Amino acid sequence: MKENIIPHSYQISVDDRKKLNQHNSFLLWFTGLSGSGKSTIANVVEQELHKKGVKTYTLDGDNIRKGINKDLTFAPEDRTENIRRISEISALMVDAGIVVLAAFVSPYKKDRISIKNVVKDVNFVEIYINTSVEECERRDVKGLYKKARAGEIKNMTGISSPYEEPDNPAIEIKTEERTVEDAVAEIMQYIAPKLKQNNE
Ligand code: ADX
Repeated sequence: MKENIIPHSYQISVDDRKKLNQHNSFLLWFTGLSGSGKSTIANVVEQELHKKGVKTYTLDGDNIRKGINKDLTFAPEDRTENIRRISEISALMVDAGIVVLAAFVSPYKKDRISIKNVVKDVNFVEIYINTSVEECERRDVKGLYKKARAGEIKNMTGISSPYEEPDNPAIEIKTEERTVEDAVAEIMQYIAPKLKQNNE
């Protein structure tokens, strides 16, 4: 089947779209425990970008898992498939000229390395939202840690399923020591030169 698929070459390229948008496109990937603050920080970064006229879109574990990935569980192989699909979606959006913000636990190093390969190194900004499991459990915004402790949720990251910390993230935010504003300012400062065209 595969050998019968011949891609058509279209005339409008990603560079044409970037030129029209007047900014580069890339992927900001937020990784960290559930309740670490990924979505909160991504949400404010997106608002800042939007104010600057940057075209953005946010992909988030909690909504993607209700739609395109609703067939997936939190077993390791399903998490890998979750991240694989999201990386392919992100790659399409980056090709469409959009700055994509993705907030997923993405606990496995190998899966995060695959994202980098799919979207290309230069387009991948790994942001580690580093909040201790103790703090996430104390916040327990969604009540999931309590359920995990009670044995009602299996494979809960940080409790009964591992989280593999990034070795060398582009940005690391220790939320217990920083404000959201401060974190957002650091991210905005990091991506400012990346937004400019002809910077690759
Ligand atoms: S990932 O591990 O596959 O990247 P993803 O980011 O899509 O996870 O989904 C995580 C969200 O699902 C969490 O923010 C939390 O609200 C919810 N959730 C439900 N069960 C679990 C679980 N067992 N482990 C982690 N998150 C869970």
